[in-house]
Amino acid sequence: MRKSLAEIRSMKSRGEKIAMLTAYDASMARLLSGCDVDMLLVGDSLGMVMLGYDSTVPVTMDEMIHHAKAVRRGAPESFIVGDLPYGSYQTGVRDAINNGLRFLKEADCDAIKLEGGLNVCGIVEALVGAGIPVMAHIGLTPQTASQLGGYKVQGKGIEDARRLLAEAKALEAAGAFSIILECVPDTLAKVISASLTMPTVGIGAGVHCDGQVLVTHDLLGMFEKFTPKFVKKFADLSPLIKESIRTYGQEVKKGSYPGIEHSFTSQTDYNTLLD
Ligand code: KIV
Repeated sequence: MRKSLAEIRSMKSRGEKIAMLTAYDASMARLLSGCDVDMLLVGDSLGMVMLGYDSTVPVTMDEMIHHAKAVRRGAPESFIVGDLPYGSYQTGVRDAINNGLRFLKEADCDAIKLEGGLNVCGIVEALVGAGIPVMAHIGLTPQTASQLGGYKVQGKGIEDARRLLAEAKALEAAGAFSIILECVPDTLAKVISASLTMPTVGIGAGVHCDGQVLVTHDLLGMFEKFTPKFVKKFADLSPLIKESIRTYGQEVKKGSYPGIEHSFTSQTDYNTLLD
C-alpha cells in the first residue's frame, strides 16, 4: 500500500524516523520497495550518477520524467518524489506548475521536490494550490552550489543559521509537507526540526532530523567519483561488481561459460543442416 501524505507527516508526531533513498530505474526501485524504505526520490542527482554529467545543472525535465516513469513501474506501491531539475521552476509559477503536473500525470509521482528558500516560497504556494504536494530543500542546494561557494556545509555562522531557520518556517507556511536539510551542522538541524511541524529529512545534517535520505549508489559503494563525509557505505559493491565482470570475461574467453547447465539442449541432429 502506498503511504499517504498524512502518514508521512504523522511519522514525525509518532517519533518514527523516515527512511528515504534515491531511485532512478525500475530494478533498483523494485529492490528498495521491498526493504521498508518510506519514500523514493527520483533525484536530479541521476544526472551525475546515471548520465555522467559533472553536476545536476544540465538535467532536463524529459530526462527526469523518463527515469521517474521507470521507478514507478518498478515500485507501484512506493511513495515517490520527483525532483524538479534546474530551469524547470526558476522561470515562473506557470512553468513550475506545468512541470510539477508532469511528474504527477506522466510518471504517477506522489509529490515533487524543489530547491531554494524565500525565493521559491511563492512557487511552493502556487504548486500546493494546484494540488501538487511539495518537498522543500535548503542548506546545500546542488543546483546553485556555485553561488554558495561550492559543495560546503551551510549555516555554520549564526546569521546564516537564522536565515535557514526563517526559510524553513516560511516554506512550511507556504505549504511544503516536508523539507530536506542538506549539509548543515547537526545541532542546527535539531533546532530547525524542533521548530517545524513538517518532518525534516537530512542528508549530511546529523541524527536529529526526522528522517534521512542518501543517494543509493553512495550507500552501496557503487559511485566511485567521490564520497562525501556524510555517506556511510553500507556495502562496497564496486570491487565485487568489477571482480564478477572480470571473471565473466575470463570464463567467456576460455570457454568455461556457458556450461551445459546454462544451455538449451535438443535431441534433434542439426548436423543434417550442413549436408
Ligand atoms: O538529487 C538528489 O538526489 C537529492 C538528494 C541528495 C537530496 O536532491
